[in-house]
Amino acid sequence: MAKKSQATWGGRFSSGPAELMQTFSESVSFDKRLAPFDIAGSKAHSAMLAHVGLITAKERDAIHAGLDAILAEIQAGKFTWSTQLEDVHMNIEQALTKRVPAAAKLHTARSRNDQVATDMRLWFKWACSEVQSRIRAAQRALLALAARDGHVLIPGYTHLQRAQPVYLAHHLFAWMEMLERDHSRFVSVAKHANWCPLGAGAIAGTTLPIDREFTAKQLGFVDEKGRPRVTQNSMDTVADRDLFLEFAAAGAFFGLHVSRIAEDLILWSSTEFKFIELPDAFCTGSSLMPQKKNPDSCELLRGKSGRLAGNLAALLTMVKGLPLTYNRDLQEDKPPVFDTFDTVALSAEVLAGTLGGIAVHPARCAAAVSDPALLATDLADYLVERGVPFREAHHAVGAVVKLAETLGVPLDRLPTAEVKKCHPGYGDDWASVFDLARAMKKRAGTGMPGPAQIKRQTARWTKLLAAD
Ligand code: ARG
Repeated sequence: MAKKSQATWGGRFSSGPAELMQTFSESVSFDKRLAPFDIAGSKAHSAMLAHVGLITAKERDAIHAGLDAILAEIQAGKFTWSTQLEDVHMNIEQALTKRVPAAAKLHTARSRNDQVATDMRLWFKWACSEVQSRIRAAQRALLALAARDGHVLIPGYTHLQRAQPVYLAHHLFAWMEMLERDHSRFVSVAKHANWCPLGAGAIAGTTLPIDREFTAKQLGFVDEKGRPRVTQNSMDTVADRDLFLEFAAAGAFFGLHVSRIAEDLILWSSTEFKFIELPDAFCTGSSLMPQKKNPDSCELLRGKSGRLAGNLAALLTMVKGLPLTYNRDLQEDKPPVFDTFDTVALSAEVLAGTLGGIAVHPARCAAAVSDPALLATDLADYLVERGVPFREAHHAVGAVVKLAETLGVPLDRLPTAEVKKCHPGYGDDWASVFDLARAMKKRAGTGMPGPAQIKRQTARWTKLLAAD
């Protein structure tokens, strides 16, 4: 069914869009969350229009008051959104026009193309800082766990086989590094967002005497010295969607990391490992099996990472091959980034909550780490220190491991005489290697799991996380 033509762009149309087209083309159902940013952009734009004399100060003030009233209504949930008006921009402009006659001048020297680019850059700056503080909260929960139970020794794994002993803190600090990289990725997305698109117009700017730098300053698009930062090519400004991809990529990386953390937690909480107990508050039971306690928060964290990767894939696919500049395809850029934001923010909170309620089972950890074979590499190092080439030492230790298996005794309980037969490098003190505390102390280099390093890393994270 054809409708009456649209007020904002309907001049050259004899009929409005079909109802089906309206349903298909609207974006207000998802872009209304840009309202505070859209209003900030409009206030800055009208301030600039008054500054250069394109509207009067009175008109500017009326526009500002009208926009403030609309924002208050939106925040109170009293604003009526209309899909017939397509998007957040037109909904707000139309509502303003009904109240303030001067609103008809608001869209002077502006297009929805530079407007939506501005809204999104403002949104990205906000969204990144929201995500950053939630990642920080998860890191703080991690640090608290490390500070409380980090001294517990567990086996570190490669190929999911017990490899070498590490303090729990070392494993937790590995996650910390992953989260820190995620945090820094969002910091850099926010930096890249810090350029003002307004003034690029639809594609080729405007013939009117606007002041882009003034608008940029109003909106906080400034460098560290307060100098305005405006985009440098009007065509690129309205075509560019790099930030969407970067944000989605940062989110996908975060999801990837969290899914790996979640997987470790799921394994550790299983009866087979039982290194930890997950908090009841972040687990659920089975509707059938009364004994079950399922690690649902971790499984959902792992599962949601698929969505985050999917959002990035959707955006890459959508932007690839688009001709410059703006194409309506680009309206589809928002649902994936909004979903990425929602998913990352919520996941970070759930991760913090889950980590915050973990109880460690020291006896189970001690049992798992007690196998002296985990220090077989240390025995090779012992031989190396006595002048044996590493490759030869590796073989000499392999022979001892085999012997222990054949005799059915733990590696450190082999008779010294038998060990010495395996290689002349073995001395009477060969078994001193299996003192766990001593073995850990020797891992003293930067990045290693020895106690001195754990202390250093604890101090480093404490300082870093207190600062921000
Ligand atoms: N809702 C639109 C979007 O998000 C705003 C820009 C519309 N521009 C246009 N030329 N139709 O992409």
